[in-house]
Amino acid sequence: MTCRTISTGPKLAVTCRALCRVFGERFVLRDLDLDVGEGRHVAVMGPSGSGKTTLLHILAGIVEPSSGEVVVAGLDVGGASARERAKHRQHKVAMVFQFGELLPELTVGENVTLPLRIRGDVPRAGDVERVLDAVGLTDSGAWPAQLSGGETQRVAVARALVTAPDVIFCDEPSGSLDRANSDQVVSLICDAARQTGATVVMSTHDRSVAEQLDEILVIEDGQLTPLEVR
Ligand SMILES: Nc1ncnc2c1ncn2[C@@H]1O[C@H](COP(=O)(O)OP(=O)(O)OP(=O)(O)O)[C@@H](O)[C@H]1O
Ligand SMILES: [Mg+2]
Repeated sequence: MTCRTISTGPKLAVTCRALCRVFGERFVLRDLDLDVGEGRHVAVMGPSGSGKTTLLHILAGIVEPSSGEVVVAGLDVGGASARERAKHRQHKVAMVFQFGELLPELTVGENVTLPLRIRGDVPRAGDVERVLDAVGLTDSGAWPAQLSGGETQRVAVARALVTAPDVIFCDEPSGSLDRANSDQVVSLICDAARQTGATVVMSTHDRSVAEQLDEILVIEDGQLTPLEVR
């Protein structure tokens, strides 16, 4: 893994320089720059098809950039091999998706500890209770099919927290929820991240969700511009 040292200013958890991603002939991301300081919570807004998911997947190491520099939690994501990116995902970053993406054949507790087991760790006593407690749930034996949309997202957040990641990428984590559940899930993510010092980058269509974070960026024509700094 390549470590990048920042000599001035706050330490950065995420850096993009001249990031491009092309699908066919189309530049979805074009010379995109991004700096996210450690512990900051940044919302990315933009219309459907503007490249929010593409950006988050590149940052999480799931999709490769076409060109440019991407550094996340110390890893040069663009220059890393698929194996290095997978290891980085297991140890440094986590993702929360719009519909939770729980595995239906595993219980809540098994879903939550999956990231630990994938990287070869044996879950410790109390791991499940600790992260379920952080999201206000108790029943580790429930099945995903028994959960409401809000509960499903809470489990997805618990699963993201279980490895104590440095950076949490959230792709419309409350996009399928009503106002009250949406606000709760986003608050849970932000509160949990503040407790551990984790950085959050979250895509959303919802201005009031975005306003719960520290900073709002808008993606347009493949580039990010600040909407508001609070
Ligand atoms: N694997 C792919 N192959 C070809 N085109 C793709 C691929 N992934 C994304 N795209 C295209 O890139 C563009 C951006 O897609 P993306 O999913 O990043 O948008 P988005 O901002 O997340 O949209 P939404 O708000 O609807 O989730 C779209 O035009 C999409 O069709
Ligand atoms: Mg998307």
